[in-house]
Amino acid sequence: MKLILKILAGIVILVLGFVIFVLVTYDKKFDAPYPELTASTDSSVIARGKYLAYGPAHCGTCHVPMDKIMDVENGELIPLSGGWELNIPPGSFRAPNLTPDKETGIGNYTDADIARTLRYMVNKNGGCVFPFMPFQELSDEDLTAVISYLRSQPAVEHKLERTKLSFLGKMISALGMIKPEGPKKTPAQSIKADTTAVYGEYLANYVANCVGCHTERDLKTGEFVGKPFAGGFYFEPDYFSKGYSFVSPNLTPDPGTGHIANWDRNTFIARFKAKRVYEGSPMPWGAFSRINENDVIAIYNYLQTLTPVANKIDQIVFKPGEKPKG
Ligand code: HEC
Ligand code: HEC
Repeated sequence: MKLILKILAGIVILVLGFVIFVLVTYDKKFDAPYPELTASTDSSVIARGKYLAYGPAHCGTCHVPMDKIMDVENGELIPLSGGWELNIPPGSFRAPNLTPDKETGIGNYTDADIARTLRYMVNKNGGCVFPFMPFQELSDEDLTAVISYLRSQPAVEHKLERTKLSFLGKMISALGMIKPEGPKKTPAQSIKADTTAVYGEYLANYVANCVGCHTERDLKTGEFVGKPFAGGFYFEPDYFSKGYSFVSPNLTPDPGTGHIANWDRNTFIARFKAKRVYEGSPMPWGAFSRINENDVIAIYNYLQTLTPVANKIDQIVFKPGEKPKG
């Protein structure tokens, strides 16, 4: 009897010790360089930033109130006052106010604070920014343009709760399973916006995040487990999808299984102009319908250069209650 009590007491102490360890250590601070970028008031720079924010980089898909997201999709380019919320096991994630309001927005952030957040995923207070934004490799010029646009917005007072981690989220942080990731290669100073596959590669991987959705990933860690652009990533029903769920199609030019292997350039351009077909699709078709024709062609040309991957996606849309097999 005494032995059992001792073992139980030991377990309780271990569990308590672990809980205390997590609670004391999860809020880690990180160091990362401050990019030397300065926002510009030049109207063409601001226009480029606005184009990126509501088009290919689709900041407006998350950094506006939940009940305005579809308005932005449909072309109402309101200020980025924050509000999108995602409740998943690691916590409640909230996209903050990015207008220049001093109390509730980015009014007290320096250009370098914002640049560091987007390039190194370390926020103003040194905390880790969870991986919802794949913009680490934005060129210096485009990062400057985006920040310049943010600064040019009217200040909107919109107080929001910050991201709150659950115990699971705190545990993931405490154990170092998630930490800020900087760029994998030195970001370009500037990128020529022509129709080449080189520019298309930049857009599809580092701006529009086609790769992030059209590649199979581990749902817990976000890690890529499938071949790039070969599709097969499952999107569970969310706030907007009315119970529908989706699997992303294979975008590689595989003759047998590639979803767009038979599409010519004009079909591809027309599909982007046509916006969403499935009401609840997670793909930001509204934002992407604002990608200009030059950039859509560049993306098309890049997708043509991918190594074909045979990955048959049997079904893309699932009715409420339906789920992919396996
Ligand atoms: C898929 C949704 C999503 C998209 C798209 C997105 N963001 Fe975010 N953003 C978030 C979330 C969620 C957070 C908070 C993350 C956290 O708390 O760990 C965030 C945080 C930020 C922050 C930190 C702000 C602060 O107060 O700490 C900045 C700056 C930012 N985003 C800028 C942008 C810009 C600029 C774009 C477009 C180029 C963009 N975001 C696109 C979801 C998104
Ligand atoms: C947030 C996730 C997400 C992002 C980002 C995304 N997609 Fe998709 N995409 C999907 C899903 C899910 C589908 C299937 C549902 C649908 O057709 O809307 C899809 C469908 C497609 C289709 C097939 C459309 C049709 O009518 O048959 C094409 C082509 C496509 N995506 C290309 C792209 C390209 C190019 C990019 C980057 C510019 C991109 N996607 C970014 C999730 C995404």
